[in-house]
Amino acid sequence: METTNHIIDEIYRKYEALGQDPEVYLEGLKHAKPITYWDYIEVDTLLSLQKPRTDIPDENVFIMYHQINELLFKMILSEIGQVAFRENPDKRFFTDRLGRISRYFDVLASSFTIMMDGMEKAQYMKFRNTLTPASGFQSAQYRMIEIGSTDFKRLIDARYRDNYDPGAPWADKFAKVYWQAAGYDPVSRQKSLTLRLFEERYLKAFMDMAETYREKNLWARFTALPAEDQQDSDLVAAMRHYDHTVNIRWVMAHYHAAEKYLDSDGETEAATGGSDWKKYMHPRYQKRIFYPDLWSAEELEGWGISNID
Ligand code: HEM
Repeated sequence: METTNHIIDEIYRKYEALGQDPEVYLEGLKHAKPITYWDYIEVDTLLSLQKPRTDIPDENVFIMYHQINELLFKMILSEIGQVAFRENPDKRFFTDRLGRISRYFDVLASSFTIMMDGMEKAQYMKFRNTLTPASGFQSAQYRMIEIGSTDFKRLIDARYRDNYDPGAPWADKFAKVYWQAAGYDPVSRQKSLTLRLFEERYLKAFMDMAETYREKNLWARFTALPAEDQQDSDLVAAMRHYDHTVNIRWVMAHYHAAEKYLDSDGETEAATGGSDWKKYMHPRYQKRIFYPDLWSAEELEGWGISNID
């Protein structure tokens, strides 16, 4: 009873401080419906979000597996944001959050079989043509994870990286970002429709985020830690694990998925986004590495060749 009185006192104080009548709120509470699982989790909304373009049953696997990926991307971005905007994050906080982020990415990297073994190639080959020119290439959250994870120089196409100018306008930097390499029609050398639509929708948001995260991305925050914390073996291992999971394990799992669906029976199919995907997607060519300072010269040299598993 004493606890109840205490809670009621607190409620009174809260609403009086807001200039509100606490009695009205208590009256409202008396009539409020109890919350249910299905309302809180929005189950009906969630289950209404699958809108296949054909009647081919495995298209549902394709849609839902992508949606699962996007939900995990959102969880990852939330953790990156917590590290970015935390006042003076210490190494414990940093290591714990990287652990969370890595676990989400571990799930993504190890779960591709859900789609690969759960979706018949013959069915995929039928419904994929209804999706052109859409591609996972247009996943904005995937790009935002990269922008939040590292210095923007690490996302510049390897051919231009040595001449990177950190003071250049964002529009110039984004013109040299690695993913541009997948967005050009090989014949006309014009931007593909896949890339044009993607930029129209998201480029401004990417540039704003890149500016906000210039000094707040995970690498910037790591290098702002005291020198001895940057040597901490658990933290360094967590940073390396994350880098490897995103840029090797996930990339290779994705590459193997593309191989299964686009490159069997002796023929290589064009991707829905139209890239020269065999070269574009393999880590040995792009060498996307978030934290090169945490890898040895030998490890960097063998990136995507010797550290493939
Ligand atoms: C049958 C399954 C899949 C195939 C065949 C496939 C194929 C491809 C190809 C060929 C590209 C290169 C761009 C293009 O030309 O379209 C690409 C990019 C991409 N896909 Fe997939 N993909 C599959 C599943 C997924 C899934 C489940 C996700 C999860 C969200 C995903 C996310 C991405 C991302 C983020 C990119 C951009 C990667 C980069 O730029 O390096 N893909 N995909």
